[in-house]
Amino acid sequence: MPYPIKKAVFPVAGLGTRFLPATKAMPKEMLTVVDKPLIQYAVEEAMEAGIEHFIFVTGRNKNAIEDHFDRQYELMNILKEKGKIEQITILERDLPSAGQTSFTRQQEPLGLGHAVWCARHLIGKEPFALLLPDMLVQSKTGALKQMIQGYEKHGNNVIGLHEVPKSEVDQYGIVKTENMEDGQLKITNMVEKPKIEDAPSNLMIMGRYILQPEIMMLLENQNKGAGGEIQLTDAMLKLLDFQKFTGVSIDGKLFDCGSKLGFLSANVSYALDHPELGEEFRENIKKMLKL
Ligand code: UTP
Repeated sequence: MPYPIKKAVFPVAGLGTRFLPATKAMPKEMLTVVDKPLIQYAVEEAMEAGIEHFIFVTGRNKNAIEDHFDRQYELMNILKEKGKIEQITILERDLPSAGQTSFTRQQEPLGLGHAVWCARHLIGKEPFALLLPDMLVQSKTGALKQMIQGYEKHGNNVIGLHEVPKSEVDQYGIVKTENMEDGQLKITNMVEKPKIEDAPSNLMIMGRYILQPEIMMLLENQNKGAGGEIQLTDAMLKLLDFQKFTGVSIDGKLFDCGSKLGFLSANVSYALDHPELGEEFRENIKKMLKL
């Protein structure tokens, strides 16, 4: 059995420029899909996969994230006085317990690779999960749990993959793969934001990773790559020289909530599936579209 994955890193220090002015004073990761912020979906997904230590790499204007995972005593007391039991349950549900969260700062948003490296002392010598909260997966079994199953079999590093239209490959990290006997994929190459004509496939790295701690020493010496940022994909490519990477095709609907279109689509999809709102929302949409 490979070393169990108990720690997860959530990089939340990006500027979120595609959502300005919404993200001027509020973190992008606090944008809500129906009634929950993006970061909460990611934390719940990690909890479902057995994560016990939640490490947030934050930046300026990100205090709301720290407060979100804290207990709100004043609010709780008011809700208790008013007998609002349901709301108390909602606030208590899926809250990491005392000592389960850590917050560290990326003083400058130098790229995803740099954000991950900022968590090196909290990770130590353990393999860890990495979840990008703006990539939201709507699925029966959470994306990270699906990957843990692949990790238990193959150990090493595991990357969640998703098919994208060929015209979109230049927006993401893209992998080259070979089929393995058990239906999973062996990753043989990866490239960050390739030109459409150079992309080795249309399988994108969809924001979920299980990584060995050696990635940290590679990130330490990693030069800037695509977009002038320190890219995680470049360091993973170096790790691929001496460790295996397995690709797990994630079952579920993927929404890139870092883009307006992806975020709006996520809201529609989650609202349609919502147990209380779904039916009425569907009718409203039909009326709007005159269907
Ligand atoms: P994005 O690539 O979406 O960048 O980051 P961004 O800065 O948040 O958004 P735009 O492009 O300006 O609109 C993907 C994830 O990595 C984190 C972000 O917070 C987001 O969760 N990130 C990115 C960092 O933590 N630090 C960085 O330097 C870059």
